[in-house]
Amino acid sequence: MNVLGLHFGHDAGVVVLRDGRVASFVLRERFNRVKHACSVDVGHIDYALADAGIGIDDLDCCAIVSTQNYELLIDDRLAVSLSPQAHPDDPVRSPLRDLFHTQGIDINERLVGSVLNYIYDDTRASSIHRDLFPEYRTRNRADIRLSGYLMDYVHSELWNGRPTLNDISATNFLPLLDDDTVRLGMHYPFTLTLRGRAMPAYMVQHHTAHASSVYYLSEFDHAAILTHDGAISPYGHNNGMFFWGEGQQLTPLSPHHLVVGALYSRVGERLGWDLHSAAGKLMGLAPYGKPRFFEQRFVGNAFDLATRGIDDMYATWWAHCIDRARALRYDLEPLGDTKRVMAPIAVDIAASTQTLMEEVMRMATATLRQILVTAGLPADRLCYSGGTALNCPTNSRMFRESGFEAMFVEPCCDDSGLALGAALYVCHNLYEQPLPPRRVPGAAVTPYFGPRYDEASIECALREFASAIVIERIADPAAAAAQDLAQNRILGWFEGRSELGPRALGHRSLLVDPRISENWARVNRVKGREHWRPFAPSVLEEEAAKWFAGCPFPSSYMLFTAAVTTSALPAITHVDGSSRIQTVTPECGMFYRVLFEFNRLTGVPVILNTSFNGPAEPIVESPQHALRFLVESDLDVLYLDGIRVTRVI
Ligand SMILES: [Fe+2]
Repeated sequence: MNVLGLHFGHDAGVVVLRDGRVASFVLRERFNRVKHACSVDVGHIDYALADAGIGIDDLDCCAIVSTQNYELLIDDRLAVSLSPQAHPDDPVRSPLRDLFHTQGIDINERLVGSVLNYIYDDTRASSIHRDLFPEYRTRNRADIRLSGYLMDYVHSELWNGRPTLNDISATNFLPLLDDDTVRLGMHYPFTLTLRGRAMPAYMVQHHTAHASSVYYLSEFDHAAILTHDGAISPYGHNNGMFFWGEGQQLTPLSPHHLVVGALYSRVGERLGWDLHSAAGKLMGLAPYGKPRFFEQRFVGNAFDLATRGIDDMYATWWAHCIDRARALRYDLEPLGDTKRVMAPIAVDIAASTQTLMEEVMRMATATLRQILVTAGLPADRLCYSGGTALNCPTNSRMFRESGFEAMFVEPCCDDSGLALGAALYVCHNLYEQPLPPRRVPGAAVTPYFGPRYDEASIECALREFASAIVIERIADPAAAAAQDLAQNRILGWFEGRSELGPRALGHRSLLVDPRISENWARVNRVKGREHWRPFAPSVLEEEAAKWFAGCPFPSSYMLFTAAVTTSALPAITHVDGSSRIQTVTPECGMFYRVLFEFNRLTGVPVILNTSFNGPAEPIVESPQHALRFLVESDLDVLYLDGIRVTRVI
């Protein structure tokens, strides 16, 4: 079965799924070079199909998802269209369509979407949206196709009221597993017409796509699933749910009504960063401070807080931090100035907010576990997805303190994984295609699903930059790269297909020796980053437990924080002694051998590994991007699919 997955919101992308396996994965930002770019154009669909080796006629159906109310934006009105009617050959039952029919609801009136207003209406504060869709400068609003996006899905009576987390944990959601209405209720049938070919399409609820992405990639045959992100509304399906996955079926258990994801980003914005970088920078800043403003009364979901008189959690939390800081005679002047984020007030707010995130997610995980116990389901495997799952210290605490034996977070847990998640949902949950043969449960799924570059395209790129570079074709590039690292050179490492998600995992990476403390500042200079931001290591999986502790092994995607148990790695050890590690196996390709050879040379199986990009840029994707970076930066060496490249001096 071949499924096309489309995601239109920020971190937009196209996926082609063949028999439950990812055949191609195209993130728009990697091509238009605009970080977190939204919208999909037909060229990306063509590219993804060609990369997967199939044509439009080979597609069985399409899955569509969006970042909440970002409606479809696409640049070729003739090539693609979407209509909110089921295709005549659609074999899938839709409880939501039945419900709308029974209630006399016109689907067209339920399709929302406002992003074009923000982009094209000068009166609105729209710079964030415009930044993600730079075409607004050259295209008229009337040329942009608009589908609208659905925010209403099936609702269970078990979700009524204003449940606190304790209320949720005491509810028996088992009846939902015996009734397909909720399991099949998180989509609405559409028809997609692509270059004249009409096919069944399904609009899939945002958090259902997150849950599908993590569960179906987990290799688990059953799991409890938690999703959360930075959506502002805490009610209903909007910012996350608890799910249960068993075999190919994925069932929502309950919305959880958490608000900490949006709070975390907004605190980062108040410290001076833009919305899309705020959460990551706040996480990096927190270890410099102490959680002096944390209070237990802020821990819970929106209804827990309401019972304590807190209606606007963000405003109340910020006011609380400021009041406490005033009482403790902090200097508040640096707040909002990104050049002064190392001031005590900023680092302590960051640390306090980080602790709040950890405590809320710990409580949410305990709630999910209790739901399973109440329902008599096995409480041994946990999947976690959504933008908040990029918060590594929280993930590690959830793993250590939740009582689940195994925990999986997928590398594309942010919205970059939504197209994949929606496609997996349609393939397995709607069409009930069996799961592909399980490998090792919870083991790393290879994350290298990006576009392919053959030898000819590499050679073509090298010719393009011929006047500025020196090329060496080396018999053993991994050994040569290890030598370069041991001689303290900064390497660009480009290998095969790029990795899913926002973290570089050894196929589009900048690498450097982690034993030299100055490399922390040095790599930040090369990348144009703030001097205080930390770096993560890659480590041979078989050696990891000798150097790190306190996170699940394997930790294949840099999504868990570990304690560094040696003083020999100053460039990757944060000020609190932590590090978010990637464990590397032979399945990671030649990158594994670089680590192996570096260990042979130095006795250290660890390399500093950071994403291959300049300031505020997406990770490099093509050979041309990598070569341009080499030519225009202070990078010492580039390995381009094993070819050693340096600048002409
Ligand atoms: Fe999300």
